[in-house]
Amino acid sequence: MAAQRSWSSNLADIAILGPGAIGQLLAHQLGGDKLLPDQLLLIGRETQPQCHLQLQCADKQHSLKLPMLALSDVTPDALKGLRLLIVTLKAYQVEEAVDSLLDKLPHNCQLLLLHNGMGPHKALESKLGGRGLLLGTTSQGALRLGPFEVRQTGTGLTQYGHFCGPELDNDLRQRLLTVPGSEWCDDIETALWHKLAVNAAINPLTALERVNNGVLAEPRFTATISAIVDELLLVAGAEGIRLDRKVLLERIYKVIELTAANFSSMYQDVTQGRRSEIDAINGFLLTLAERHGLTLPVNQELVNRINALSPAAAPTPR
Ligand code: PAF
Repeated sequence: MAAQRSWSSNLADIAILGPGAIGQLLAHQLGGDKLLPDQLLLIGRETQPQCHLQLQCADKQHSLKLPMLALSDVTPDALKGLRLLIVTLKAYQVEEAVDSLLDKLPHNCQLLLLHNGMGPHKALESKLGGRGLLLGTTSQGALRLGPFEVRQTGTGLTQYGHFCGPELDNDLRQRLLTVPGSEWCDDIETALWHKLAVNAAINPLTALERVNNGVLAEPRFTATISAIVDELLLVAGAEGIRLDRKVLLERIYKVIELTAANFSSMYQDVTQGRRSEIDAINGFLLTLAERHGLTLPVNQELVNRINALSPAAAPTPR
């Protein structure tokens, strides 16, 4: 309780909901060296006035002290200065967690969803009470070594863009763009389809074959990766989304190269007995395909095989 009282006048104008591997990586990157104490708030599983976050990068070790509030301890007072909520939960956790926060968020607070796969933004669009919604995607790789210790296992593009409601203030936009390799995107939905292709190809194959991302560059995976992309193109076309096959394949192989040493998030979920994000990735393609009377045999098989390996756990914040 004492900790919560001290946050009633906190400076945090950005909060990260779901500080897992990517959430913590972003906390370090957004903080940079200029972060003021309490400017950034974590919302996670437990309340701790000061979490000591550590990040191992290729060049050096970074450390950062940030307050964390348990989702269940959040009060409107604790969030009163908040202008941007960055949601880095798994896709299947987003809707329930955001629903539980909406009546505590200031009316001018914008939301940024940053997760693998697609779907939750459509479910939330009508519930935001006029707040702005941004979508984002990152191809950076991160591995959680301990509760507050993360290793960066791959660099890559991070993209943000406006989806609905008011536009983000320029100062917050500039702060998001302090993340290395990040850019603002006028057509974020197309960017998300590109990332969907990356995840649809890399995540289930690495999880099923128990290999790191780099192994997918071997010729034995070429035909399957092409088939996954061809089926995605079929669905995207039916949805009216125009994508270029060559660009998609180049992007996939670039991510494989840049994150070669990384074990994908789905590999990590499956090997650690956690629920996977398959429903929001290859499963999302199947949902759309059904609407258009299409069948996607390669993606269907990947979904079946991953679901046979990973539990469908109740959604809880990381
Ligand atoms: O889910 C993941 O692991 C990541 O999105 C990516 C980019 C495939 C890197 O491993």
